[in-house]
Amino acid sequence: MPLQEVSSDAHADVAADASPPEPDFVSFDGVSFGYGDGDAFLPVVDDVSFTASRGSFTAFVGPSGCGKTTILNIIAGLSRPTAGTVTLRSSSRKFRVAYMLARDALLPWRSAQKNVELPMELAGVARAERKARAARLLDQVGLAGFEKKRPVELSHGMKQRVALARTLAQDPDVLLMDEPFSALDAQTRTIVQRLFLEIWERERRTVFFVTHDLSEALALADRVFVLSARPTRIRKVVTPDLPRPRHIAALRHDETYNALYDDLWSTLETEAQQ
Ligand SMILES: Nc1ncnc2c1ncn2[C@@H]1O[C@H](COP(=O)(O)OP(=O)(O)O)[C@@H](O)[C@H]1O
Ligand SMILES: [Mg+2]
Repeated sequence: MPLQEVSSDAHADVAADASPPEPDFVSFDGVSFGYGDGDAFLPVVDDVSFTASRGSFTAFVGPSGCGKTTILNIIAGLSRPTAGTVTLRSSSRKFRVAYMLARDALLPWRSAQKNVELPMELAGVARAERKARAARLLDQVGLAGFEKKRPVELSHGMKQRVALARTLAQDPDVLLMDEPFSALDAQTRTIVQRLFLEIWERERRTVFFVTHDLSEALALADRVFVLSARPTRIRKVVTPDLPRPRHIAALRHDETYNALYDDLWSTLETEAQQ
């Protein structure tokens, strides 16, 4: 599939009709995973267990190559665990997972509007409804008035906002974000982070977010998993107890935030040296 979003109902164990507040909306129970087999087997994920409630925001940080993307792929159902189980609970039969990457992967010949409509077209949403929803989503990401522009006419930050709108257009149960803002320059990144945070704080979708930017992890997430070097395990869980709505610019002066940052940094430094 040429897009960064995937819709997955590949999991065998989707449980229907979970009642709120759905504390174990997504759960990993002793999940291990490796690539290849026999002598070429590369262990990547080592006995990882966690649960995530519906509407929670979990960030993963860890050394390069430790298995962060692999964990997202397991949640998406793109990779099957070699041991352990993954359970996704949804009150709807079809559990929708959307994936957003650093690369916007927009179709260059389609307008912003038509790019956002694409997942809805694929899902068979009626024309009038998908037009209205796409326009509303573009407005939410601050791109009202840019509906007809093609990707080549948009800045990098704007393209990534279109990609965000397109990801949300799938109305996902779970949003997987793999370093989604890492290719943006610092200033644009802050703008897009702020925008995304506002949308998330309003909608509270279940998010799994990979980043190498510790300040981003702390500013956005309810919980940060610090992963060990490969084969990866959860080395530490940090829960940024920072009130919402959060103001990214103000966090820099927040003592709790700064203490958490130092703690994360030293844990990660130790891991990266393993
Ligand atoms: N399709 C694949 N086949 C074989 N090895 C892979 C594949 N994808 C990733 N790997 C290896 O698995 C490890 C974890 O990769 P990945 O999950 O992409 O790490 P991260 O996202 O944390 O940087 C790396 O050593 C990588 O080289
Ligand atoms: Mg990765």
